[in-house]
Amino acid sequence: MTKSKRNSSASAASTASSNAPPSVSASRIAIAIMAAGKGTRLKSQLPKVLHEVGGKPLLEHVIRAAARVVPAKDVYAIIGYEADRVRAAMQHTGVNFVLQGEQRGTGHALMVAREALFGYDDVIVLSGDAPLITPETVGRLKGFHLEQKAAMTLLSAELETPTGYGRVLRKNPHSADVQAIVEEKAASAAQRKIKEINSGFYVFDAAELYANIGKLSTDNANAEYYLTDMAHVLRKGKRGVVAWKTENPSEVLGGNTRAELADIDEKMRLAKSRQLMAEGVTIFYPATCVIDADVEIGPDTVIEPYVQLLGATKIGTGARVRSYCIIKDSEIGDGVMVRPGCVMERSRIGAGAILGPYSHLRPESEIAEGAHVGNFVETKKIRLGRGSKANHLTYLGDAEIGAGVNIGAGTITCNYDGTHKHKTLIDDGVFIGSDSTLVAPVRVGKGAYVGAASCITDDVPPDSLAIGRARQTVKEGWARVKKPGKT
Ligand code: UD1
Ligand code: CA
Repeated sequence: MTKSKRNSSASAASTASSNAPPSVSASRIAIAIMAAGKGTRLKSQLPKVLHEVGGKPLLEHVIRAAARVVPAKDVYAIIGYEADRVRAAMQHTGVNFVLQGEQRGTGHALMVAREALFGYDDVIVLSGDAPLITPETVGRLKGFHLEQKAAMTLLSAELETPTGYGRVLRKNPHSADVQAIVEEKAASAAQRKIKEINSGFYVFDAAELYANIGKLSTDNANAEYYLTDMAHVLRKGKRGVVAWKTENPSEVLGGNTRAELADIDEKMRLAKSRQLMAEGVTIFYPATCVIDADVEIGPDTVIEPYVQLLGATKIGTGARVRSYCIIKDSEIGDGVMVRPGCVMERSRIGAGAILGPYSHLRPESEIAEGAHVGNFVETKKIRLGRGSKANHLTYLGDAEIGAGVNIGAGTITCNYDGTHKHKTLIDDGVFIGSDSTLVAPVRVGKGAYVGAASCITDDVPPDSLAIGRARQTVKEGWARVKKPGKT
């Protein structure tokens, strides 16, 4: 089998400028990701490829892998069902989008992409619903395809339970040649016993694909154009169709059902936990932890059971996150202790700080080194200075709090007047007595004291004592006179 004539004019130019063997380096390669399907089996309003595993949409995982094999400008996501929503969610990846208005099968998806893929020599096709694929495997598949000079190369895998997948039909088990792919629905009882499945990842010689794609028919159980039928079509035309079997079958798993999504998610989470453990992080009972792919944790940090670490969270070394914490997009310094039940988003915690149990840190909470935020304390958009403490039952919002400040139990910054938000400034070394309300905008000067249960509406000068409450009156003998029966 010889490689067909390239359909690109650019390849000649790039051959001339390269010293490497032209057959490999000169090939202009695109990656097309099929992502237009609805995902009927998920029974969802959300398009299949936007369902999340490992904290990210299925399609984003595939795009990430693709963009490590070729530049993002050569990646084409074929979208259709809820295309606007999928495009909006994936715009940030910088890939191209091709619209498959009507979804008439995987073969049809590639028919629609013909124009976009014009000028490429080879096209790698990935499935937008199979997120465990790695750039290494795609790269090896591509290498095998170029080496074999095949018209179509498919990635196959041996699965213990091949149910639901297309099966690879071969005449000679010792050669790479493939005769055809038969879909589960059309397979005979004998064919269903075949454990070598079609992963849905391919490399095509672009010229061969588009010279023959018109031969696909919809004569099948789903009345769709199956891309898998290209194997038979090309084989009939005496073109090379080969399979490269991965030793890593779990990489090909697709998320077609909620149960499959859960399986994939579990695999990703466990892989992430193993990676972190290999880097020196202790994770007790990792099966109970939900740790997103981009999370970074330093060595000697301990993650207790039932913890969620989400988004771009970073944790330093020697920290401890106790059970039942949900931490998203936050930075936690070295040696921080996060006690049980804390919820935190877009916050930054300095080294050695202690949080919780049950602290709620809303976005833009900056807790400096060695500070304490205790139980039932809610913070939002604040800076709590070095070594300052807010240990019990407190709301701190829109506040700048200096170092060495003591915020008594039950303190509230009244930051909202019903229309606007205002700031509370509490300078270094201030002592706020328990159950005080600070009505913003207001400032408590350095070293000042606020008496317990005060309502502070005016600025407090440095080093002074402010008391904003009714003076206590005592009526002696009152009870004896008014409630005589009781004494
Ligand atoms: C497909 C293969 C099957 C293989 C399996 C591996 C076909 C006919 N069958 O089956 O041999 O074992 O993948 O996971 O290809 N899509 C479009 N446009 C469409 C239809 C589908 O873009 O018109 C997209 C889907 O969104 C999905 C991908 O193509 O991301 C695969 O489609 P899906 O319906 O999941 O195919 P399978 O039944 O899994
Ligand atoms: Ca699928």
